[in-house]
Amino acid sequence: MKFGILTSGGDCSGLNAVIRSIVLYLDENVKNAEIVGIPNGYGGLIEGESFPMDRRDVENVLGRGGTLLGTSRQPFKLMTVADDGPSKLEKMCENYKKMGLDCLFTLGGAGTHKTAALLCMEGCNVIGLPKTIDNDIYGTDVTFGFQTAVEVATDAIDRISTTAESHGRTMLVEIMGNKAGWLTLHAGIAAGADMILIPEKPFSVDAVCEFVTKRRKSGKPYTMIAVAEGAVLASEAKFKKSERTFVRTALGESTVTRHLAEILEERTGFETRASVLGYLQRGGTPCAYDRLLSSRLGGFAAALAKEGKFGVTAAVSGNRITFNALAEIAGKYKLVDPEGDIVRFAEDIGIGFGV
Ligand code: F6P
Repeated sequence: MKFGILTSGGDCSGLNAVIRSIVLYLDENVKNAEIVGIPNGYGGLIEGESFPMDRRDVENVLGRGGTLLGTSRQPFKLMTVADDGPSKLEKMCENYKKMGLDCLFTLGGAGTHKTAALLCMEGCNVIGLPKTIDNDIYGTDVTFGFQTAVEVATDAIDRISTTAESHGRTMLVEIMGNKAGWLTLHAGIAAGADMILIPEKPFSVDAVCEFVTKRRKSGKPYTMIAVAEGAVLASEAKFKKSERTFVRTALGESTVTRHLAEILEERTGFETRASVLGYLQRGGTPCAYDRLLSSRLGGFAAALAKEGKFGVTAAVSGNRITFNALAEIAGKYKLVDPEGDIVRFAEDIGIGFGV
């Protein structure tokens, strides 16, 4: 059998660990397994690029961040657009056949899974693997890369907290996550943030100002606020992301965090600073949890391929590794329930959500 592996969308820690585990499993368990790496995500498949891989290629990569295959973003909405020639989807199916693949492993996030489901509908044998620091893939309790990002963001908030305390400042820390606030929620709670702002719970500036002022009055000289990249003001919640970005750019503020920091300083009169963690959260060595999870998911997906179980994506449910049909999860997101247990617990211990 011939197997292809690609990594698509934003990278994260743990991708190499998954690739390694797939290669090792196939090498150990499938007679005459032929494995090829497809570079730069779906971009490589569109161009028909591949290179042979074996276990020597995955030596010493378990703890290495990034992806040894390279990655790219290929917007889903452009997949079926055909101007003069074949669409990207048609090219991918053609190259899948030309490469003689029996199975393609696609390591990626929600967008990658949507394209994977399309490839399946066109007759390709695909098995997905749930990657993203955002933890927003439908049907899995957790995605690989998430926990490492939680550790990084938690450490960053911890560090910023000590300088916030020294200076008696209000500190905003922007954490990745455009649609989903999982990373901000988990890191915010783990680092003891006073307030957490996430996309699923639009916030009011008045409520944030009141929270900060009240803390001061009660003798707390500083406030730590974890802000998701996609957090929205209640007043802008009805607008599309592009419209919000347009207005913020016109106001000269690049992100919601900087926007809020300016308003907070002006309205509360307290020194306020903003830090944007950015790509720190995606890079570097995976934590032990992610190394183990990635290895288990990779081995599991390779076992599915050996059994001929295609059109699925590996997932975690409880403490078990399982799978979901790609067709069932494609196009759906797993978002934080704004009234759910974890948010409620955080509120119960006094964490503010700006509402
Ligand atoms: O991969 C997920 C993610 O890191 C999101 O949290 C973030 O909004 C986005 O990717 C950033 O994308 P890019 O790498 O294209 O800047």
